[in-house]
Amino acid sequence: MPLADIHCHLLPGLDDGARDWGTTEAMLRRDYENGIAKVIATTHADPTVKPFPLSKYMEALEKANELCGELGLGVTVYPGCEVMYGEGVTERMLEDGRLPGLAGTRKALVEFYPDVKYDAVLAALRRLAYIGYTAVLAHIERYECLYKRYDRIRELREAGAKTQVNCSTVIKPPGFFAKRYIDTLLSDGLVDYLATDAHSDNTRRVNMKEAYDTVIARYPDRGHLFEGKELLS
Ligand SMILES: [Fe+2]
Repeated sequence: MPLADIHCHLLPGLDDGARDWGTTEAMLRRDYENGIAKVIATTHADPTVKPFPLSKYMEALEKANELCGELGLGVTVYPGCEVMYGEGVTERMLEDGRLPGLAGTRKALVEFYPDVKYDAVLAALRRLAYIGYTAVLAHIERYECLYKRYDRIRELREAGAKTQVNCSTVIKPPGFFAKRYIDTLLSDGLVDYLATDAHSDNTRRVNMKEAYDTVIARYPDRGHLFEGKELLS
């Protein structure tokens, strides 16, 4: 089964991800080398600060797929964004089509500030559910209110949210306790997606194969976490 990356900043000139088309090309080549056939270009969106540049984004997405064709890598890039949640405005923009859901679905990759309060996360995903959207919580390992709070993570998932952990966290957890936290998330089935959150071809690069090998060595039945289930499969 080819791998799928549901969180990646590979379109240039739109956020702090790829700085130019040369970087985008290098990232697509890394996708191919990592066995990734499908990528969602999740450009940052912060609708409380400025509008998402949808037409520019769609142009870049089309150009990225043309580039994939020219390079013959067998990689397809799908629409999406990583939205910094803002009460009300996020729902309105998703409803209006001014923010793209993940790969054309009614699922949205949502992030919060690391010190967000738990009640705010729960309220946000319920508001999104009210308009028919599922929240995919980006890099859940960053949120202080969820750290080792498996009861809360269970409650969020029971309320319909999906959870995403970054590949780099699995490869190199920031310390002993973080490693145990990630291990428990994986062993208890509290992770829905592992994704690269890649921003470049050097420091924050596409590293899915290494994460895949790390996870599968310990949890052989967790391959589906790398397949973009319900989004790209
Ligand atoms: Fe991201």
